[in-house]
Amino acid sequence: MAQTSLRTGPLRLGVNIDHVATVRNARGGDTPDPVRAAKLAEEAGADGITAHLREDRRHIADRDIDALMEALRVPLNFEMAATEEMQRIALRHKPHAVCIVPEKREERTTEGGLDVRRDENWLANYIGPLRDAGCRVSIFIAADKRQIEAAHRIGAEVIELHTGAYCDAHADGDFEKRDAELASLREMSTFAHSLGLEVHAGHGLTYDTVQPIAAFPEVQELNIGHFLIGESIFRGLTPAIAEMRRLMDEAQG
Ligand code: PXP
Repeated sequence: MAQTSLRTGPLRLGVNIDHVATVRNARGGDTPDPVRAAKLAEEAGADGITAHLREDRRHIADRDIDALMEALRVPLNFEMAATEEMQRIALRHKPHAVCIVPEKREERTTEGGLDVRRDENWLANYIGPLRDAGCRVSIFIAADKRQIEAAHRIGAEVIELHTGAYCDAHADGDFEKRDAELASLREMSTFAHSLGLEVHAGHGLTYDTVQPIAAFPEVQELNIGHFLIGESIFRGLTPAIAEMRRLMDEAQG
C-alpha cells in the first residue's frame, strides 16, 4: 500500500563528492577536480552537495571547501567531526548545513553513528554557535532511540540515520539481518519525525539498497557518494546520478 508522504517537499538527493578527491589525491595535482564533479552533479539534478573535510584531509581539502562555497548554487552539506578546528572552518564559511560525524583516524570510512548521549552537554554547547550562524545542524547517528532523543535534546534540527549496517548486510547476503536493520531504520525514522526532527539517511547506499529507504515517508534527504562515484567510471556521472534519482522517484510511487 502506498504510504502518505510526511515530507515537506520531494525527497532530496545529496551527492557526496569526497571520492573524486580521493582519486585526485592518489596522484597529487588537481585532477579530477571535485568541484567540477559537484557542478556536474548539480546540473544532473543533485539537490545538494556533501563534502567531508576530514581531520587528516585524506580526500577533501580546505581549498575544495573554499571553491565549493564559491561555485555551488545548491546547498552545501559540510560533514565534519566535532572539533574546534572544524567549528572555526564552518563558522567562517557558514554552509547551509553542517553534519556532525564521528571520526577516527584509523577508519576507512565513518564506521558508526555519533555517541550523542556520552557527550550530550558538550555537544549542545558545540552546536550552539553553528545554529546561531544559521547552519542547519544534522547529527549522524545509528537507528537508536536513546541517541535520537539525545540529538533532539541538544537542539539538532536534523538527524541522518546511518544506513551502513543495512547495506553491509545486503552485500553479505545476510537478508535476515538486512531486514532487521531496515525495520529498525523504518521505526526510528518515524520516531525521529514524531519528535519534530528532519530525517536524512545515508552511507553505503547503492542502486540495490536505495529504494526501501527512499520509500520511508519521513525521510527528506539521502546522501550518497562512494557508489555513485564508482558507477560514474562505467556510465558517467550524469547518467549514474540520473539512475539513482529515477530509483528514488520510483520508490516514492
Ligand atoms: N552520510 C554521511 C554522514 C557520511 O559520513 C557518508 C560518508 O562520507 C555518506 C553519507 C555517504 O556514504 P557513501 O559514500 O557510502 O555513499
